[in-house]
Amino acid sequence: MNFLEERIQKDGIVKPGNVLKVDSFLNHQMDIALMEEIGREFHRRFADKPITKVLTIEASGIGIACFAAREFGVPMVFAKKSHSINLDSEVYIAEVESFTHKNKNNIIVSRKFLNADDRILIIDDFLANGCALQGLIAISKAAGASVEGIGIVIEKGFQVGGQIIRNLGVHLESLAIIDAMDAETGVITFREQ
Ligand code: G4P
Repeated sequence: MNFLEERIQKDGIVKPGNVLKVDSFLNHQMDIALMEEIGREFHRRFADKPITKVLTIEASGIGIACFAAREFGVPMVFAKKSHSINLDSEVYIAEVESFTHKNKNNIIVSRKFLNADDRILIIDDFLANGCALQGLIAISKAAGASVEGIGIVIEKGFQVGGQIIRNLGVHLESLAIIDAMDAETGVITFREQ
């Protein structure tokens, strides 16, 4: 079991509806020593890639992406969620559907901060249905930039996102992949990697 799987096992709480609460260390209160380790691990896994920017989406991705960007010595850019239809020609826009929240958001990134020379590492906390990642990939493409890889902290392997993203041929690394979790017993089953 790796350092993250150990922490999920210790402090993650399985809720009904296949929801994993990790808010004591990852996406509400954040354990900074763990964030540093996560940043180093993403750097190790994508060390051969000439990353120029780390891209994520607000809100929970931001903290994690900062630590990854620090390791690569590059800026971090986060896509903003926008409720209004933004016709501003100065931004890249993608539509993202949230399966969990049953709504749609536009996500936007200023054209100033991504361009065709960029080699992007996308980072996010969870991969569930993959809608957020598809939006970030669409924005990278709109900028003419290349997506060199995607780093995810926790992939819910029983949801469709991982398969969709791998089928696109993008190099996807998930630090922990959960194949099953049981709200009654609290048992979390990780995929052997
Ligand atoms: P997707 O992003 O992979 O398409 O999945 P989905 O639409 O299902 O996820 C919607 C939101 O719920 C995402 O955050 C995602 O990170 C989060 N999420 C999905 N499954 C879990 C889970 O088991 N536990 C927790 N804690 N979060 C989960 P978001 O709406 O973008 O919100 P935020 O980043 O502002 O927190």
